[in-house]
Amino acid sequence: AYAAVREDNRSGGLGLTQRPRRNRKAEWSRRLVREHTLTVDDLIWPMFVIEGEGKREPVASMPGVERLTVDEIVRDAERAVRLGIPAIAFFPFTDASLRDPVGSEALNAKNLVCRAVRAVKREFPELGVVTDVALDPYTSHGHDGLMRDGAILNDETVAVLVEQSLIQAEAGTDVIAPSDMMDGRVGAIRRALDKAGFLDVQIMAYAAKYASAFYGPFRDAIGTKSALVGDKRTYQMDPGNSAEALREVALDLEEGADSVMVKPGLPYLDIIRRVRDTFEVPTFAYQVSGEYAMIEAAARNGWLDGERAMVEALLAFKRAGADGVLTYHAPRVAERLRAL
Ligand code: PBG
Repeated sequence: AYAAVREDNRSGGLGLTQRPRRNRKAEWSRRLVREHTLTVDDLIWPMFVIEGEGKREPVASMPGVERLTVDEIVRDAERAVRLGIPAIAFFPFTDASLRDPVGSEALNAKNLVCRAVRAVKREFPELGVVTDVALDPYTSHGHDGLMRDGAILNDETVAVLVEQSLIQAEAGTDVIAPSDMMDGRVGAIRRALDKAGFLDVQIMAYAAKYASAFYGPFRDAIGTKSALVGDKRTYQMDPGNSAEALREVALDLEEGADSVMVKPGLPYLDIIRRVRDTFEVPTFAYQVSGEYAMIEAAARNGWLDGERAMVEALLAFKRAGADGVLTYHAPRVAERLRAL
């Protein structure tokens, strides 16, 4: 009986005309049929800025990520240039003594972000610089906007965000990335930038930004974790919603956004796909701090192969339709891609 089975197999046992495994049989073939690839052109590298000089401070909940003084930011910017990473993004760790209820430090033209922008653009004018617009790194209550009687005020906040954007544009930023989720801020910022002559400063809108538990390590990195009063569910989106993301994106585009972002990343790949298919505009994903921490924690425990998980997760964004990804893995994955 066994001999008969063997005879049958030799003659093409199951009689299949389609055998998808044939295309997977060797690396040369897998490379030829691969639909999506990750390249260094897909990466935006977020960095944390601290006061001082010559310091690199580890972020406990994000192993491998450090807060850098401005001079060290310039060194990492050089690394970005060397690796061919197109753009970097800045987030400040503001000293507690500089935080107040209205986030005044956001409007200080010499704040950490503005100094980092100036220093990097002076040395590397060709490197793209993205700056976040929102008040949370600067407010004593840790919210992205102004607060009255426990409520986040929309229009009053937008007026401040406009000023913050102008200050960042004056410092030389290339891309304003409003991450605050106030209504109407993209339009207000665009009008103000144009009026001030910053016609070429782009707006990358955090259009579909969800109220997510995955931001935990970031709040640790910028020191707002213990400060945050309550949560951000009155302005960031409900994780149960999908159609609402399209509405948010449509509004930001009408208001003048040059590109849109979905955030967090992996848990929201369906949103990236819907946005990309609906609008066909440059769409970015933010693989946030908690996603980075999950991969690193498991890898450091020996529970998964961190290098492979890193590349697979980033490739998933491309497959979902993203044009690029903000990722804390940017320098490592760029190094790996270069070695291949
Ligand atoms: C705040 C902001 C957050 C992130 C980017 N900008 C956190 C928040 O909304 O609380 C999160 C990034 C990350 O988790 O990596 N405006």
